[in-house]
Amino acid sequence: MKIILLGAPGAGKGTVAKLLTEYDGSVQISTGDILRAAVKEGTELGREAKGYMDRGDLVPDALIMRMMETRLQQPDCANGFILDGFPRTIPQAEALKKLLEKLNIRLNFVVNLEVPRDVILDRLTTRRTCSNPDCQEIYNIKSNPPLPDGRCKKCGSPTIQRDDETEEAILNRLETYNEKTAPLIGFYEREGLLKTFSSVSSAETVEAVKKALKEC
Ligand code: AP5
Ligand code: ZN
Repeated sequence: MKIILLGAPGAGKGTVAKLLTEYDGSVQISTGDILRAAVKEGTELGREAKGYMDRGDLVPDALIMRMMETRLQQPDCANGFILDGFPRTIPQAEALKKLLEKLNIRLNFVVNLEVPRDVILDRLTTRRTCSNPDCQEIYNIKSNPPLPDGRCKKCGSPTIQRDDETEEAILNRLETYNEKTAPLIGFYEREGLLKTFSSVSSAETVEAVKKALKEC
């Protein structure tokens, strides 16, 4: 599959993407995960991105486009990819459109994940993420808790809260989403690529996406 996952912070993009990779082996490409790994490794990209991320602001488009132009040309993308958290702005969507045309890649569609705002706020304050960069399993202390001592069920590493999970940063991320990312819904509607799915139950969302893939 070649799809984009669009949705507010906490809409479940990471959770749904992981489940979809198990379906047909397409790779998950999360710009958030790539950036967090760069911050942890202290690379130049990470040093540039960290301040923006901790505040809940977007990282500049030029940095993201450089990073994604390289990523989309790596061999593991040939079998399919799930873009999680990219594009995030109209300029990124326009640049991606040109890049895909240049690489002769056609998207199946864009998955717009819809969740009520109160559910989103609750999910983000209760999320825990595996600290092992090779695992990054996502948990939720209410709906899908890690082991009782807080370690990851898959690899045993401690689970942590992200640096952008303070209340102030969460509210800023939601505002940034409304201002910069929500306009992509109209953009992809006009491109004839938008499909909207409820993302209250990840299992049901994944089944609905698989069904839509078979029909397209
Ligand atoms: P990013 O990592 O993309 O964060 P985000 O968009 O804020 O999304 P989240 O990871 O918070 O949420 P999600 O939708 O993946 O939800 P999840 O599945 O974890 O970006 C972080 C930062 O990087 C940005 O702020 C920005 O600075 C920068 N950045 C990244 N991409 C960029 C770009 N393209 N341009 C510029 N800057 C960029 O689920 C959330 C919680 O809910 C979990 O606990 C999960 O277990 C739970 N949950 C999920 N689904 C369900 C369900 N159905 N039922 C119950 N619980 C559920
Ligand atoms: Zn883990």
